[in-house]
Amino acid sequence: MPNRTPLTRFLIEAERAGQITPELRLLIEVVARACKSIANEVRKGALGGVLGDAGTGNVQGEAQKKLDVLSNEILLEANAWGGHLAGIASEELDEPHAIPDAYPKGNFLLLFDPLDGSSNIDVNVSVGTIFSVLRCPDGASPPTTRDFLQPGRTQVAAGYTVYGPSTVLVLTVGFGTHCFTLDRDTGSFILTRRDIRIPADTAEYAINSSNARHWDAPARRYIGELEAGSTGPRGRDFNMRWVASMVADVHRIISRGGIFLYPADAKCRDKGGRLRLMYEANPMALLIEQAGGAASTGSQRLLEVQPTGLHQRVPVVLGSKNEVAEYERCVAEATARRASG
Ligand code: AHG
Ligand code: MN
Ligand code: MN
Repeated sequence: MPNRTPLTRFLIEAERAGQITPELRLLIEVVARACKSIANEVRKGALGGVLGDAGTGNVQGEAQKKLDVLSNEILLEANAWGGHLAGIASEELDEPHAIPDAYPKGNFLLLFDPLDGSSNIDVNVSVGTIFSVLRCPDGASPPTTRDFLQPGRTQVAAGYTVYGPSTVLVLTVGFGTHCFTLDRDTGSFILTRRDIRIPADTAEYAINSSNARHWDAPARRYIGELEAGSTGPRGRDFNMRWVASMVADVHRIISRGGIFLYPADAKCRDKGGRLRLMYEANPMALLIEQAGGAASTGSQRLLEVQPTGLHQRVPVVLGSKNEVAEYERCVAEATARRASG
């Protein structure tokens, strides 16, 4: 087939253009290969015996599904021996994973959410993998948790896959956001959208409304105005979509625009929010910004947040930039009102 650009070719061209090093190219190839293995496992469903609970819990006190554990193992195994990594951190591991002594060490740190959207596994709804790549600070061998605690703007690459009707990989190395679709016949990820641009305006929003009674004033006001539609101050109607797999909700926004919100509410404020900064919010924020969108905590650019913990949680608002700005305005006005008594 003419004019097909497989991921391998895309990465070699990025290397020739000076956008990535050979080591980063290898790293991304290995992550993509691991994701193909995960896609195969997901696809087997009940026939592969991969559904259901693992009977264990992770550091965040969440029950692990069999596919959470399996996906984590696939990613760890694939990345341990390539020589491109100094360390690995995962949603499913309390502490960073050391590269075994037997293997050479590289200059990068890889962080991932091996299986995002666990609650959807058993009901055959899209799930995915999210990853982030950081540079390992000089001399950090082996790297400690502190070496991973870098703000999102320092990411050298970020991406996610969605295991849906088709398997897609969305990637940035800091030069735009690009989408690849897995060709199951050849086993290659093929470039299907280069340089994605998210429309600045949207009529679609994503939030778990069952938390409405826990929201603070800005979220209540912002969502209230969207719900009022053409009868409210926004003067037009909005539609709501919530998959409950962040990868799928973000992929919809990457594909056609929208705004995604998981604010800190009374239920999760003590923890800082619901979603994890280092391997959920940061990689998505870089992908969204590289596609012309915005990503915020409500009061700060997400990529500027200084992490204090590997599994730290954070409020997340991202997507079409004029809507993110509207939400930030609600937050700023509420803060100003509080300050003036
Ligand atoms: P994970 O499956 O990795 O724990 O992440 C689930 C996250 C995210 O994918 C999704 O947006 C959110 O949890 C859904 O939260 P609710 O269950 O509160 O809707
Ligand atoms: Mn997740
Ligand atoms: Mn997960």
